[in-house]
Formats: sequence, structure tokens, C-alpha cells
Amino acid sequence: MKVDVLLGLQWGDEGKGKLVDVLTPKYDIIARFQGGPNAGHTLEFDGIKHVLHTIPSGIFHSDTMNVVGNGVVIDPITFKKEIDALAKMGVDVRKNLFLSRRAHLILPTHRLLDAASEAEKGRNKIGSTLKGIGPTYMDKTGRNGLRIGDIFRDDFKDMYTKLVEKHQRLLGFHNYEYNLSELEPEWFESIELLRTLNVIDSEHFINEQMKSGKKILAEGAQGSLLDIDFGSYPFVTSSNTITAGACTGLGVAPNRIGEVVGIFKAYCTRVGSGPFPTELHDEVGEEIRKAGHEFGATTGRPRRCGWIDLPALRYAIMINGVTQLNMTKADVLGDFDSIKACTHYNYMGERIDYLPYSIDEGLVEPIYTEIKGWNTDLTGIRSTEEFPQELEDYVQFLERELRVPITVVSVGPDRTQTILRNKVTA
Ligand code: GDP
Ligand code: IMO
Ligand code: MG
Repeated sequence: MKVDVLLGLQWGDEGKGKLVDVLTPKYDIIARFQGGPNAGHTLEFDGIKHVLHTIPSGIFHSDTMNVVGNGVVIDPITFKKEIDALAKMGVDVRKNLFLSRRAHLILPTHRLLDAASEAEKGRNKIGSTLKGIGPTYMDKTGRNGLRIGDIFRDDFKDMYTKLVEKHQRLLGFHNYEYNLSELEPEWFESIELLRTLNVIDSEHFINEQMKSGKKILAEGAQGSLLDIDFGSYPFVTSSNTITAGACTGLGVAPNRIGEVVGIFKAYCTRVGSGPFPTELHDEVGEEIRKAGHEFGATTGRPRRCGWIDLPALRYAIMINGVTQLNMTKADVLGDFDSIKACTHYNYMGERIDYLPYSIDEGLVEPIYTEIKGWNTDLTGIRSTEEFPQELEDYVQFLERELRVPITVVSVGPDRTQTILRNKVTA
């Protein structure tokens, strides 16, 4: 069996959590491969809404194994909170959650360094979630990081102290005030909990499971436009959010990747700073934010809203090798007489259909096609037969533009508000 990958094609929050939860019954294992508690993946079923940050979105299915891979960065405090919240809902993670020995740890000082770096950047700040993601990946690539495997070493405390002293020198350099002794007890308490969980060599585990015919889905975090290499740098996250990240973040060889499911919203959002060519600064953007409840699942910040950006989606499809598309939040555009899709950019006077090196304001200007809206409440529909013609036209227009079939259309946050389409090759 090959490993399928599900990931976001925009700037995150495309609805990955919901769709992973919907697809989980088809899989034996759900595995996260990058990112950390900067992610907020929302699942809704039986009237309950749940937000997961580090734990894979298959966790509510008791017979599915959930793996946090080596590419993920783990904050023990957030992790413990997630586990406690799950326990209240009757989910016993000791049975179906597995942690890679190679995953890196987020220290309290990583969070402080994230905040110090953002404060210093001032107006140019990345808009980080302040979860310590950037500094932790910096220590990973800088070969200073602490890993889950280290928590079992007798000298773990010494390793911790050594790294913290380095961080303190950096914080001094930033002139950043903090009180570490307030943060440490909870962190160490949470490390104790981590020691009791299933810690594994996840690369061996995943490959063995694959060999024995088990079905595995790799769950992306963030989105392709936040990828450290291909996103709108420097306004990106610090990991490879794309399909290739599933290979390095789980130990899966590239020729073992199967289907790549790319998720996108029927429009587009972004939270944090950075360019966003199709952003709407008017009442239309406000209307989308209200209808789509576009507020961050991790930070509560209002998400910036705009029309769908096809040059950006074509780029994301290319670098990920997307084999099928899933469109979410079609219901959010239910009140519009007409909607717009950006098909091309005017890039320094030239009409282009791809994503150029820079999409900074002033360099690219979106060129839109106007499309008739469906002006219908979609939240109650459950089959393609009930699609208003305008919605079917929009889906087919996107398939023509993107040359990849749209196999799922989501019309609400609940598990049941998910419509499968035939896989017709566009
Ligand atoms: P993720 O980070 O990709 O998992 O997405 P988030 O959970 O951060 O944000 C997506 C939000 O949209 C969540 O509040 C979901 O419950 C919600 N959602 C997902 N799909 C749909 C949909 O089709 N329609 C509506 N209205 N909401 C959706
Ligand atoms: P999910 O998995 C949306 C954004 C932040 C910021 C930038 C860098 O829920 O889709 P970081 O904390 O990673 O250093 O922040 O990336 N960002 C996200 N935006 N969804 C996410 O995750 C995000 N994770 C990070 O807002 O602009
Ligand atoms: Mg999210």
C-alpha cells in the first residue's frame, strides 16, 4: 500500500481537520508530518466542535492509529492540554496515539524567542502564532534541538539547561523581558505525561504497517502558500507543508506516495501578515468573514478574506502533485448574486497564469472572471443531484482551470455536510 496525503493548498485553515475526520474510516493510520501547535484543525460531529493542534484528526475513531511523525514539533504543554480535553470526551490516547522518538520539543524559551523576534520586527512581523515554531525548527536545523527520545535520557535535564542557557543569551541580545520560572513547572509536568505515552520509531512503524497492507493517510498542517521554500517568504511557517514534507516528516520514500488530496476553500483566507493578491478590503470581505466565521482556530485572530486565486492554486497543485481536489465552504458563498475568481495576474504589465517569485502588493494585480452565484443555502444538501446549477458550473469551471477533478464538496462544518462527486477526469 502507498501513503495518501491530504494537505491544504492555500494559506491554511482550508478544512483539513474536517476532511481527515470524514476520510478516517477508510484508513488504518492517520499521521501528522510537520508543523505543531500553530495548527488548529476543527472537527464537528454529533453537535460537538473540537479543535486539535498537534494530535492527528483521526483520534476520534478508536480503531484508527494516530501517529505524530518526526517532522512535527511538540509543545508538551499544549499536547497535555489536548490529551486532557480528549480524555474528557472518553478518548483514551494510550490506545491509539503514537509519538515519534525523533520529533523535536518546543521549549518555553522557544516561545519567548518567537515573541521576542516578532516584537523586534515591529511592523514587518510575520504574524506568527507565537507557539515557538520558528525557533524550534531553527534549533532543529542548527543541530541544537531536543527530541522526544531525549526525555528518556538520564542527562535530559542537563541537555535542557544547556539549550535554555543559549536561549537566555539570545533573549538578552533581544532585550526581551521574561520570567522563565513561571513557565517551567508546567512544562516539566507535561514532560512527565509524555514519558507515559507510546513513543516509537515512527519511520519503522509506518513502513512496516505499509508493508503489511495497512492504509495510511498523512495529514498536512498549514498550507502550501505557507511552505518554507515555496510559500510567500518570509511570511511563511518554518516547515515544508507540501507533499515532500510527508516523505521527510514520516520517513516515507517518494515512490511510496499514493493519492494526494488537495483541499481549498471556495474562496481564500489568510491569517497573519504577508501578501494576499485577491484580498478584499471592503464589505464583501467582511461578509465572507462573517458567513464563514473566519476567525483563527488557534489564535482567534480575524482571518483576511478574498476571492479564490487560481494562479496560486495551480502552483500548489504543481508542487504537491495533487491527484484530487476537495473544495470546502461552498455554503459560505450562499448569499452572493455573483462571485469572482482570479484566473490570471497582471504581473509588471504582463498577463500571466502562474505564481511568480514575488506576489508583493504593487507587483501583481489579479485579473478576475465574474461567475453567477448560486444564491442558495447549501447547508442542507447531501448529494450532487441537489446542487444548484450555478454551483455545478463553478465546480466544473474550476476543474477546467485547474485540470484536476474535484471529488468532494463540503457544505458545512459537520461530518455529514460532505458531498462526494464522481472522480471524472477533468
Ligand atoms: P484546518 O486548519 O484546515 O483544519 O481548518 P480550520 O479548522 O482551522 O478552519 C476551518 C473552519 O471551517 C473550521 O471552523 C471548520 O469547522 C469550518 N469548516 C470546514 N468545512 C466547512 C464547510 O464546508 N463549510 C463551513 N461553513 N465551515 C466549514
Ligand atoms: P492550520 O494547520 C493558518 C501562519 C501564521 C503566520 C505564519 C507563521 O490550522 O491550517 P508560525 O506560528 O507557523 O511561525 O506562523 O503562518 N500559520 C497558519 N495560518 N493556519 C495554520 O495552520 C497556520 N499555522 C501557521 O498565522 O502568518
Ligand atoms: Mg486551522
